[in-house]
Amino acid sequence: MAPRIEAPEFRLTKTDVVKKVEDILAPLKLSEEVQKRIREVYDEEMRIGLARNPSRKSCLQMENTYLPELPNGTEEGEYLALDLGGTNFRVILLQLEKGRVVSDEVQHYFVPEPLRVGPGSELFDFLAACIYDFLETRSKLDHKLPLGFTFSFPMTQQDLNVGILVSWTKSFNCPGVVGEDAVKMLNEAIQRRGDLEVEVVAVLNDTTGTLVQGAFLDRKCAIGLIIGTGSNACYIERVDRVEKWEGTHGDIKEVVVDIEWGAFGDNGVLDFMKTEYDQMLDKNSLLVGSFTFEKLFSGKYLGELTRLVLVKLAEEGLMFGGKIPSQLLRPGSFPTRFVSLVEQDAVLKLARPVSSESCFHELGIEHGSDDLKILQQVCFAVTERAAILLAICLSATLMRVDREECTIAVDGSLYKYHPRLHHLLEHYIIKMTPGKKLPSKLPEHGAVVRNKQVFQTQMSREPLIVTN
Ligand code: BGC
Repeated sequence: MAPRIEAPEFRLTKTDVVKKVEDILAPLKLSEEVQKRIREVYDEEMRIGLARNPSRKSCLQMENTYLPELPNGTEEGEYLALDLGGTNFRVILLQLEKGRVVSDEVQHYFVPEPLRVGPGSELFDFLAACIYDFLETRSKLDHKLPLGFTFSFPMTQQDLNVGILVSWTKSFNCPGVVGEDAVKMLNEAIQRRGDLEVEVVAVLNDTTGTLVQGAFLDRKCAIGLIIGTGSNACYIERVDRVEKWEGTHGDIKEVVVDIEWGAFGDNGVLDFMKTEYDQMLDKNSLLVGSFTFEKLFSGKYLGELTRLVLVKLAEEGLMFGGKIPSQLLRPGSFPTRFVSLVEQDAVLKLARPVSSESCFHELGIEHGSDDLKILQQVCFAVTERAAILLAICLSATLMRVDREECTIAVDGSLYKYHPRLHHLLEHYIIKMTPGKKLPSKLPEHGAVVRNKQVFQTQMSREPLIVTN
């Protein structure tokens, strides 16, 4: 039974309620000073992450992807692509002509929870079984197909087709894979079956896949960004600044660096801005103490963060007539799609906040009109913080890209389905890289930041195969 909050608190006057709600949301507001500090810390972690012999380890992996150059428009043929990172595993057959995808066939396979947290070999056997199913349905079992594996987790890449898993994130935690090469494990699972002709030729992070795909569409693309269940970015860095790259790099001048910013703060450098809600969220998460930055805003966590704030407001007697709805006490009961729905009301400015109402309705929570207003305030606050945090790291990354103009390729469910995130992000990026004018004609959803052009490309969701 949910504890009852009794009268005195609930007899607050309206003004008191407003003030108290503001106080509870205040820790989520990032002052200019805090923003500045986050930016400084991020810059420093990036620098240390690329250094050869740093005095301490950075929380930013700044992984060399060994992807020296982006597609040049000569790529041809039939390729298989896999995409693993969320609860849906995708198998894709791509036909490339002169570097363009001329046709694709995609199939989704749901990855059940026992496979996401069970023994690694079983997960890879499942992936191989999906490949078999996909090819058998299309009568292509005897085709010798090169395969590109988008593996959306932190990896140490020793080559284009070697990806050692550093840690699981999001909703995966399979024993026996951390420290192992995901490509090798997939190849072994394929061989165990003995009925597939495919060969894994490249392993990519999803940010890298997004960047490569962006480069197909726009040669100025130099940053790949994911704002989905998890979050991360990669960018094109000058090789001479990747000090830790010890091997020979011949004539290569630039290389794609996978930042792995989800782990930003794992060494405590962001502790100064974490709220009690962030701490609680981490404490109840699958992988406690890791992926600090991602937990502050990404799609897997934004709804949960909102729920924790709502519970606090209810505990303080500021919502739901002083009762705490038991539905809200269940972790995960307020999914991130609810935040997008509530935010939609703010965008549409309808007389009645129908989307917000539908969330409470779906949860079976009785509410009054003030509860709806407070809910909107909470969703606004967590969204605003998400946009500012992303913009801080994105502006800092933009400043590192050694290009006059730079396109950012973006993908990810939170970005796609949140009705305001894109605009907020653009607003803050402009603010954080001041002194430059907007061009008179913007690309759709576009903006110019310093002399770097930034815009989204609504990516179709296919990961990309890299060919030499
Ligand atoms: C992973 C990244 C990935 C991001 C977006 C994070 O949890 O560590 O490798 O790019 O999610 O999917």
